[in-house]
Amino acid sequence: MTYLKSARTLFALFLCLFALAAQAQTAAPAPAKLPNVVILATGGTIAGTGATSTTTVGYTAATVGVQALINAVPELQKVAHVSGEQVFQIASENMGNEQWLTLAKRVNALLAQPNVDGIVITHGTDTIEETAYFLNLVVKSKKPVVVVGAMRPSTAISADGPINLYNAVLTAGSQEAVGKGVLVVMNDQINAAREVTKTNTVTTDTFKSPELGMLGYVVGNQAHFYRASTRKHTVDTEFDISKLDALPAVEIAYTYANVGPTAVNAFVAAGVKGLVHAGVGDGSLPTKVRPALSAARAKGVVVVRSSRVGQGIVARNGEANDDELDFVVSDTLNPQKARILLMLALTKTGSTKEIQRMFYTY
Ligand code: DGL
Repeated sequence: MTYLKSARTLFALFLCLFALAAQAQTAAPAPAKLPNVVILATGGTIAGTGATSTTTVGYTAATVGVQALINAVPELQKVAHVSGEQVFQIASENMGNEQWLTLAKRVNALLAQPNVDGIVITHGTDTIEETAYFLNLVVKSKKPVVVVGAMRPSTAISADGPINLYNAVLTAGSQEAVGKGVLVVMNDQINAAREVTKTNTVTTDTFKSPELGMLGYVVGNQAHFYRASTRKHTVDTEFDISKLDALPAVEIAYTYANVGPTAVNAFVAAGVKGLVHAGVGDGSLPTKVRPALSAARAKGVVVVRSSRVGQGIVARNGEANDDELDFVVSDTLNPQKARILLMLALTKTGSTKEIQRMFYTY
């Protein structure tokens, strides 16, 4: 009799499971879960306003608030659950170390929340490449972080801000962008923070990754990636800004025909910890500047040879004997990005051997 009872029980259980399975199949498919994307607004032209609809120069940057930016693009609601925070409201020529630390800490705090899937940062285009690269080195998450701006103010005919913002939010909510490092999305293109740079003072196609190339496109409401960076970023970096309230002072000395040592000497007198030399060509050192840089090194200032050219490798022991001078070379980082990596490197070490390793790693 016991055998019979257990057989009945098993059969009843089977029937229940079958009914549940059948019910699940007939239930309406759950709507696709929209990602949660937070927009951190910092100002810039994307938040700018001009006197007329044809004012594309001579407008005021950083006047429109984050909620107005979101409200101006109702299509955002179709691709993500969007919320906004006004972190700053500045023209990005005024972005600085203090703002970077505040922004990076907020990004890391938000990305640590399981209910945040990605972040978009609206930003002035003048220093977007610097903020993006700084974040590329200090964000501690694989979740997408997309920096976006505009070349025309929000009041202009064919303002590029709304579509750039839409594409940025779409990318920040995409699985394809996970683990790609910090991205700059503008003009339907996806560029990596390490290589992207502003190449034109006024046109909407200004952001490019010359020679090394963009990562992909945002087309047809989708982010399409064709490449990924080979250099370490985000969760794979050794930098931690969580306990930092300031960054070491690092300045850039620009070089040109007839340059003298004045700028270098002034920076050293001001107490910099690091100095990036934006040399001509392959980081060449003019004879009037070399002694000043050498003296800076002797005082403990870490010197990085970069180039004003903007593309190509600044080769170690090429235009100068870096081994003898105890200098570091920037590899392919332009001067403004070399400054960022040198600042972060100096939070970890003063060893030029270690710092050179970092320039070949990030
Ligand atoms: N003042 C510049 C800035 O905030 C305007 C350029 C722009 O945002 O496109 O970067």
